[in-house]
Amino acid sequence: MDMDSIVSLCKRRGFLFQSSEIYGGLQGFWDYGPLGVELKRNVKNAWWQDMVRGHDDISTLPGAPSSYAMEGLDCTIIMHPQVWKCSGHYDLFHDFMVDCRETKKRYRHDQLNGRWAEAKGQRIFVTAQAGDEELAAMEKQAMKFFKIRAKNKDDIKWDGGSTCLTEIESFDEVLGPESKTLGTLTPPREFNLMFKTYVGALSGEEGAAFLRPETAQGIFVNFKNVLDSTRNRLPMGIAQIGKSFRNEITPRNFTFRSREFEQMEIEFFCHPDKSQDWYRYWRDRRLQWYHDMGISGDRLIMREHHKEELAHYSIGTADIEYAFPFMAEGEFGELEGVAHRGDFDLRSHMEGKLDEKSCPLTVQLGEDGKPKWKGSGKDLSYRDDLTNEKYTPHVIEPSAGADRATLAFLCEAYTEDSAPDENGKMQTRTVMKFHPRLAPIKAAVFPLVKKDGMPEVAKEIYLDLKKHFNVFYDEKGAVGRRYRRQDEAGTPYCITVDGESLTDKTVTLRDRDSLEQIRVKIDEVEHVIRERLNA
Ligand code: GAP
Repeated sequence: MDMDSIVSLCKRRGFLFQSSEIYGGLQGFWDYGPLGVELKRNVKNAWWQDMVRGHDDISTLPGAPSSYAMEGLDCTIIMHPQVWKCSGHYDLFHDFMVDCRETKKRYRHDQLNGRWAEAKGQRIFVTAQAGDEELAAMEKQAMKFFKIRAKNKDDIKWDGGSTCLTEIESFDEVLGPESKTLGTLTPPREFNLMFKTYVGALSGEEGAAFLRPETAQGIFVNFKNVLDSTRNRLPMGIAQIGKSFRNEITPRNFTFRSREFEQMEIEFFCHPDKSQDWYRYWRDRRLQWYHDMGISGDRLIMREHHKEELAHYSIGTADIEYAFPFMAEGEFGELEGVAHRGDFDLRSHMEGKLDEKSCPLTVQLGEDGKPKWKGSGKDLSYRDDLTNEKYTPHVIEPSAGADRATLAFLCEAYTEDSAPDENGKMQTRTVMKFHPRLAPIKAAVFPLVKKDGMPEVAKEIYLDLKKHFNVFYDEKGAVGRRYRRQDEAGTPYCITVDGESLTDKTVTLRDRDSLEQIRVKIDEVEHVIRERLNA
């Protein structure tokens, strides 16, 4: 599977388009086309059904320490600015970037690599964007700088392997990825990833607000509202699906790192003594969900973070990672993080200060010597009415990206195999082997030919199925070609009305993956498809 083929199929078949394409596109923003919007909606619906709506709150599920409640929520994208002070995003949610004074390009400090090169009596550090092509890019840059032709490229002596720019102290001898002269990169500067906007008519800092960089905070600040309105006892999870925004310095790898994306997050509130057990439960449950949705084998892994990798709030995190085709051999990209956040969020929304244990960064003090930001002052702790114990709940957070999951399902589904054409000759075909729950179109209905009453029967079947599933009707071109188009769309079943259908009231049902064709009675088609989709 190669990424270029997947990207080209996504555009050709209407899964994904570059945002604002006719104006040259906007980097880090993507639009979902007719097939893509169905696929992504199915991903979100499957998650919501499995985690929230279909949740069994009266039994103890396998692996769970006890039964628990699950509720849903849909919060605003713009929230009170104090939310981001207390969450730590205002002060801590940044990347370091370097600017090139010559080309005006901006790079993430930790995403520039370089090598020391020497020629014509000069030693320089040649940089390139980190990635598969970096060594070739460095060689090209060095040849340009030293004015050495390709046939004499061995005149450049390379010293050591590729090193991250973060290891280099002075940039005087550094050649930027696209610059012609040395020392054009600025020292690294902090860059907050939140998009800023202004609320109402106030244009100054009084009206400043931010687009949320995660959906999680809406859940934390509504914890008491949900608890009181549902009269649930803990443990309880609150789930939300929604857009988040991050002004990523270097968005890349298709939708993998976008500036506008959707998250599917659960904040699970529990007793501190049971939080490690719940952490393990959610880690395993979420990994299993991806397996159940069709990602199998060694392309999916779970990786526990080392201590140094943990976010400021986290006392344990495991990432669920997928071997995306754009990653180097043996490397994986994060699909979802399952974090043990302790009581960090509820406490900081109550008290408004970051504690040194969970946040080893200096708490900023105002002129009065008090922390610069205030909490809500509201009591967000929980009293157990059975034991009368009062405590601040601990939180386990399975936080998934809807776009990354959709991208992983696209990559996993992409298959090239061979199938017989209408003359029985084997031909290569591209087929998207989506899990039936995720497939954008569940079934396509074809009349074999556009005459002899076949279209009428096919249309009747189509209209009947449309009440239950997303189905597609096609009568254009050779039937073999129509099958191929549905294979590329990932449609699990094709129903063909032929001459026999008119006499014995049966149709052909073709299976996308096995290519098996069986005859089914017209009045049983809906039932047979439903059974297969749920299998
Ligand atoms: N509330 C915790 C949180 O937001 P995160 O690891 O920053 O944690 C969670 O984000 C998930 O959101 C990631 O695992 C990823 O799937 C998705 N995500 C984060 N940044 C993204 C981006 N720039 N583009 C697409 N998806 C992103």
